[in-house]
Amino acid sequence: MITFVTKFDTMENRLTKSAILATFLALMPASGFAQLYKNADAPVADRVADLMSRMTVEEKIWQLNQAGFGNNKNINNIGEKLKHIPPQIGSLIYTDDDVSLRNAMQWKAMEESRLGIPILFGYDVIHGYRTVYPISLAQACSWNTELAEAMSSVAAREAKSGGIDWTFSPMIDVARDPRWGRVAEGYGEDPYTNARFAIAAVKGYQGDTLSGEGNIAACLKHYIGYGASTGGRDYSCTEISDQALWDTYIPPYQAGVNAGAATVMSSFNDINGVPSTASRFLQTDILRGRLGFDGFVVSDWNAVEQLVSQGVAADRAQAAAMALNAGVDLDMGDNAYAENLAALLESGDVAMETIDRSVALILALKFRLGLFENPYTPELPVEKTMLQPAGRELALRLAEESMVLLKNKDGVLPLDKQLRIALIGPMAADKGHLLGSWSGHGRWEDVSSVLDGMKDRFGDKVKYSKGCDFDGDDTSLFAEAVAAASESDVIVLCLGEKREWSGENASRASIELPVIQKKLIKELHATGKPIVLVLTNGRPLVLTEEEPLCASILEMWQPGVEGGVATAAILSGDINPSGKLAMTFPRHVGQIPVFYCERPRARRDQGFYQDIPTEPLYDFAYGLSYTDYTYGDINISSNADGTYTATVAVTNTGNRDGLETVHWFVTDPVSSISRPAKELKFFEKKQIKKGATVVYSFEIDPIRDLAFVNSKGEPVLEKGRYILTVKDKIKTIEL
Ligand code: NOJ
Repeated sequence: MITFVTKFDTMENRLTKSAILATFLALMPASGFAQLYKNADAPVADRVADLMSRMTVEEKIWQLNQAGFGNNKNINNIGEKLKHIPPQIGSLIYTDDDVSLRNAMQWKAMEESRLGIPILFGYDVIHGYRTVYPISLAQACSWNTELAEAMSSVAAREAKSGGIDWTFSPMIDVARDPRWGRVAEGYGEDPYTNARFAIAAVKGYQGDTLSGEGNIAACLKHYIGYGASTGGRDYSCTEISDQALWDTYIPPYQAGVNAGAATVMSSFNDINGVPSTASRFLQTDILRGRLGFDGFVVSDWNAVEQLVSQGVAADRAQAAAMALNAGVDLDMGDNAYAENLAALLESGDVAMETIDRSVALILALKFRLGLFENPYTPELPVEKTMLQPAGRELALRLAEESMVLLKNKDGVLPLDKQLRIALIGPMAADKGHLLGSWSGHGRWEDVSSVLDGMKDRFGDKVKYSKGCDFDGDDTSLFAEAVAAASESDVIVLCLGEKREWSGENASRASIELPVIQKKLIKELHATGKPIVLVLTNGRPLVLTEEEPLCASILEMWQPGVEGGVATAAILSGDINPSGKLAMTFPRHVGQIPVFYCERPRARRDQGFYQDIPTEPLYDFAYGLSYTDYTYGDINISSNADGTYTATVAVTNTGNRDGLETVHWFVTDPVSSISRPAKELKFFEKKQIKKGATVVYSFEIDPIRDLAFVNSKGEPVLEKGRYILTVKDKIKTIEL
């Protein structure tokens, strides 16, 4: 191999020399002494084949492993850290934001491994890298996939500048149990919503081409059914019928695969007793055979070894064989492939073709990303790459559009600028919790708190008092808060969950506000001043007790860096709220799971709870605005190609401009299998100026929108009547 760089070069020199080397190689003929795999103009498949023909079995096995790397801020330890990572390793989860550490490790791979195969650096860029955006569940409530795509694109650009080639996102696990902490990470309870946001995220991260500037590879996770974790307990088993698998859990993955997602992550849960990570049926037959996925599958963290805890493998070696044979190509974090594959090959428990197939898929992504040509990340000043004004502006818009106004009695909101406001609650001045879980390299200092936002809009009309902590039983701050409330015209009360109360490994049996926060509400209610409750949380909460005590409720979710500004903009009326729920809010934890698309009951007038109303507190797609919209009748026309066009005219009859999302639901009232009471098939958000009428339309493709999939995943379109619903308007289509 031609080496004309030295170990002691500065990174700048290394980058220049790499560029010269790449140009030199590109000019070389594809054969001769130049190695084909280094020729950027050769087809990826040829480069992969050439490289693999040069690799030893050991080198191949290293490609199938991923370890954690980073977080060691002590410069003197860097050498020490690198020492433990073999230069041939396939991938690293890079948790550091120091680009030079990544480059040093990549340097080792390029220069100290025999063939100079670059490492693929992955990281959990979930709702932003440095500029943190609203959590995914909140993004879904914006119903604005364009903003979600733009956000993923900014996150990709920042991540790429931070040395990341690949994100473990989007999470598209349909989730119907808010006790499961990871509902924060996905797009709610509906398959179609998850599918639309999956497409947006994949397009945003990957752009038009993976090697394009600022693009990174996406990863659909967690395949599949992880959101159905029993009782909302993380990492637990799942009971998923074949029908539910096809109806509910597969559609977002099909959409993400069709959008070109480069990778998929296997999930922790089992289906029919077979953990997804060991399921050839799921990972190969369905994912590749039926959905047409052609990228690689990474296990979730330690998911290979966990096959032992799940009781299907006797030891790590057997687990490694099961996972690889199932179709899991890259082992995240277990070291089980590295330790065992050579012996498993020898014993015949895994075949060389199986290893080769996985290696080829991983190398193909490295080529597609352009890592062989550009293995290093330019070390630019962070002021030039992170938290750029356009990215913050986008964070503001997404936060504004994702917040959901749940209650607004007597038009308490928006707040008049003359009002004296008592701003109370543990979340009011907080910054860190607004970031939510998996907040990349976001920093609390980057965040605008509600207090910051309110001071900006309302100046010294705002009097702040913390009131209490998030939990515990210290009531010593109550008196000051009550005094502040008594001297004000309105109370803005900021309560909710700490960021670590949702996300991974954050299941909760109670999803009510903690006792101390409830007590505070009651104390403040006793002052007689109207309460505007502003909530920050990563999951739907049970608000049944609080709802009657509050005049208004604004669900701000975990809104990211511009959360405080967005909240104040909504409270002041400068922004008209337009978010609608992507996940049902239960009235009681005993109702869970409760979601909009259940199949009809056997007795429609019986079977209700005897102790509480059966309906949830707030339905899927519910959300208020400061203006009013009137929906006209639905019109349907049939087209020559067998499709239909449905339209509905929506008029803004209030006195403010607004953004309105129209949700189109389909019901199949008589079918050979019982179908959901209604299913979301399309949504669209548009601006409607006050007094104006805007027409929304939905192109209905019968196979896509009216057919159902049976338990084998085959589409079935039956003759008969279908009902289209938009808000309170209904129209039937006869096939
Ligand atoms: C485990 C989580 O389940 C997964 O979502 C994440 O991407 C990996 N850890 C890596 O951090």
